[in-house]
Parts: sequence; C-alpha cells; structure tokens
Amino acid sequence: MSEIGIGLVGYKFMGRAHSNAWRQVAHFFDVDPAPRLRAICGRDEQATAQAAKQLGWEGYETDYHRLLARDDIQLVDVATPGNTHCEIGVAALEAGKHVLCEKPLANTLEEARRMVEAARKAGTVNMVDFNYRRAPAVQLAKQLIEEGRIGEIRHFRGTYLQDWIVDPEFPITWRLRRETAGSGALGDIAAHVIDLAMFLVGPIAELSATLKTFIKERPVETASTGGSGLQAARGAERGEVTVDDAAAFIAYFENGAMGTFEATRLAPGRRNRNSFEINGSLGSIVWDLERLNELEVFFADDPQGAQGFRTINVTEPVHPYAGAYWPAGHILGYEHTFVNTFKDLLDGVRENRSPAPTFEDGYKVQAVLDAVERSAQSRQWTKPEYELS
Ligand SMILES: NC(=O)c1ccc[n+]([C@@H]2O[C@H](COP(=O)([O-])OP(=O)(O)OC[C@H]3O[C@@H](n4cnc5c(N)ncnc54)[C@H](O)[C@@H]3O)[C@@H](O)[C@H]2O)c1
Repeated sequence: MSEIGIGLVGYKFMGRAHSNAWRQVAHFFDVDPAPRLRAICGRDEQATAQAAKQLGWEGYETDYHRLLARDDIQLVDVATPGNTHCEIGVAALEAGKHVLCEKPLANTLEEARRMVEAARKAGTVNMVDFNYRRAPAVQLAKQLIEEGRIGEIRHFRGTYLQDWIVDPEFPITWRLRRETAGSGALGDIAAHVIDLAMFLVGPIAELSATLKTFIKERPVETASTGGSGLQAARGAERGEVTVDDAAAFIAYFENGAMGTFEATRLAPGRRNRNSFEINGSLGSIVWDLERLNELEVFFADDPQGAQGFRTINVTEPVHPYAGAYWPAGHILGYEHTFVNTFKDLLDGVRENRSPAPTFEDGYKVQAVLDAVERSAQSRQWTKPEYELS
C-alpha cells in the first residue's frame, strides 16, 4: 500500500475533527494511498506543538509556507477561518499539492473564482469539506431520490439552527467579524444547507433573501485567552458585530422545485439542528443532523391503511459507508462524516479525480451566498452568478 503525506493547517475545532478522521480512515476503509500525518501547522508554537502531540501528528510547522515547501507532504488540508482559505489554498495548489479546503470555499465570490482557476491550473485533486453530504442517511436520501421513490421534487425546506451566540455578552470572535468570516450564519451554517440542497435537488435558479443582525454590539474577545470561534472569553471593551445573526430566503431550483432556507445562531435550545424536509409527488424525506443515523420517509405507494412516516435506522451493511463500521444498529456520529469524506478524497487521489464537492461545486455554493447578500441588500429576486468566465 502506498502512503500520502498530509499537512493540516489549523488545530482547533476542525483541526481536531480532521486529525481524528485522518487517523481513523485507514482503520475502517481499504484506502490506498493511506494517509501519513506528517505535520500540523499553527502560528503559536507552544499550542501547535501541544496539538501535534495530542492529535497524533509526527511534527509541526509554525508557518504554512514551510509546510508547502516540504516534499514529504502531498496533500494540504486547510482548516482555518475563511479569510485565509484563498491565500493558503492557492499557494498550496501552486506548490503542486492536492488540497482539501474547509467550507465555505472562500469569503467572497472573487476569492472563490481565484481558487477554482488555481485548481484548474494545478491539475491536482481538490475538494471542499461539506461533510454532511457523507452522513449515510443523506447518501440514502440521494439514492431514494435518484431511484424516483419520492417522484418529482416540489419542496425543499432546509433549516440550520444554533444558539451559541444567544447571550448578548458572548464576545466577538472571528465568526462575528466580516473581515475574517465573510458573513455570519449565512456562510457559517446556511452554506451547509445550500450544499445539501444542491446535492439532493439541483442548482438554485433564483432567490429572494433577507439578513438580520439582532445584537449589533458585543464585548471584544480578550487577546490573552483567544479560544475557538465557538468559545471565547470576553473583555470590557465593546465592538460592532459586522455579520448577520440570521439569514432566510425563498428560492426556485432550476428543475422548478421551491425552496425555503433559514439559518440562525439565535434559536435557544437548538444546539445544531441542521435539517431538511423534501416533498415529492410520491413521498417525503426528512433528516436532522441531531439524529443523524435516522432517515424519516413517507412513500405514497405503501399500502393504504399502513401509510405513514417511518424511520429507517441507516446503519445496515447495505447502507452507504455504514458497512465499513459496526454491525447494524451500532450507530455512527458526527466524526464519521469526516472519515467518510476523507475516504472518498483518498480514492480521488488514487484515481486522479476530484471528488464532489469540488472547488467548482464550492464556487456554486459561494455564488448562492453572494446572491443572498445581493438580494438582501436590493430587496429584489436575484440569480446566482455561476458562470466562471
Ligand atoms: N465542516 C464543518 O462541519 C465545519 C464545522 C466548523 C467549522 N468549519 C469551518 O472550518 C474552518 C475553521 O473553523 P474552526 O471552527 O475550526 O475555527 P477555530 O477557531 O476553532 O480554529 C481556527 C484555527 O485556524 C488557525 N488560524 C487562524 N488564522 C490563521 C492563519 N492566518 N494562519 C494559520 N492558522 C490560522 C487558528 O489558530 C485555529 O487553529 C472555517 O472555515 C469554518 O467555517 C467547518
């Protein structure tokens, strides 16, 4: 079996999730090449060295340029805030590396365009980490749709609800600043729903959107404590929140289906409710990340009198990815969505083919995010600009 050297930039939330998946993937799937965890990269030497030790990396770098210069690293994994994706991603592609990039692909459509152009020029393998596509239940939903089990799709109803900034005293971390995050709930979580919608239903043709910032000022994060974008300590000084707290839009897909989308980080009690319901002419499908092993289905061709929603526990050996893990009913978790994603990425490397969602797919999601911002500003129906020129 051959090996591929991995270099990971970022060591906090996604740094941990990705390290775990790189460590686990060859334990469950027959991957060739198998990943070798060469180096993790961060700017703070002490914290990066500690992360390397805890997360299972052979070594570390404190400057991503040094990571890119290494011949023993062939794949670079970008798990840093959105304002760095274009710079690091393009440099990695120019250094001839395969690149996995966290979502959303970039902070602006222009940056995303530059990343697609660099990827085309490099000819290496690229992928965006929209990991929820690879929950087995979401893959089953895709199969059922393709088999025609729910007929012609009429409605996609997607919501991504969180509550971690409901306290007005939660400080301004990078996720609450436009210059680092690009946008708020929109790019952070609506992006996932948009990717799922386009994966399951198809391209969005036009939309009408609104964005809202309810809490306009918050304490500034203290430099001494830092913290991840989801946890931080507050200082006495207050600053302006420059991103949306919530995003909502209605849309038409190119195939004529209607979509409604809502994302907020201000929904008390909704910790991480990434969910969708799809209604077709012959049935419906429902999924919720907080119960990720389950797919609720309704089929109009079930016998009359026995019709109703039923819940499939998507852990059978016949289900996508599930057979690689445990016996039926032994459920999977959040982390397995990353393991499954990296399995497909390694297959892509072997076959010299970029697995979906590629940078071009990530660009299309970015075009929808961009259309949402333009529509919210103009209060007009707006079309995403998918053309790459
Ligand atoms: N796919 C998912 O489910 C998912 C979940 C959470 C976050 N994300 C995405 O992952 C990315 C990172 O988010 P996170 O939650 O891990 O954030 P985080 O704040 O927990 O970690 C960010 C990391 O990036 C490092 N970093 C920041 N700027 C850097 C720079 N200029 N050079 C090198 N390192 C730098 C930080 O030191 C830290 O290690 C974002 O794009 C986010 O949208 C994806």
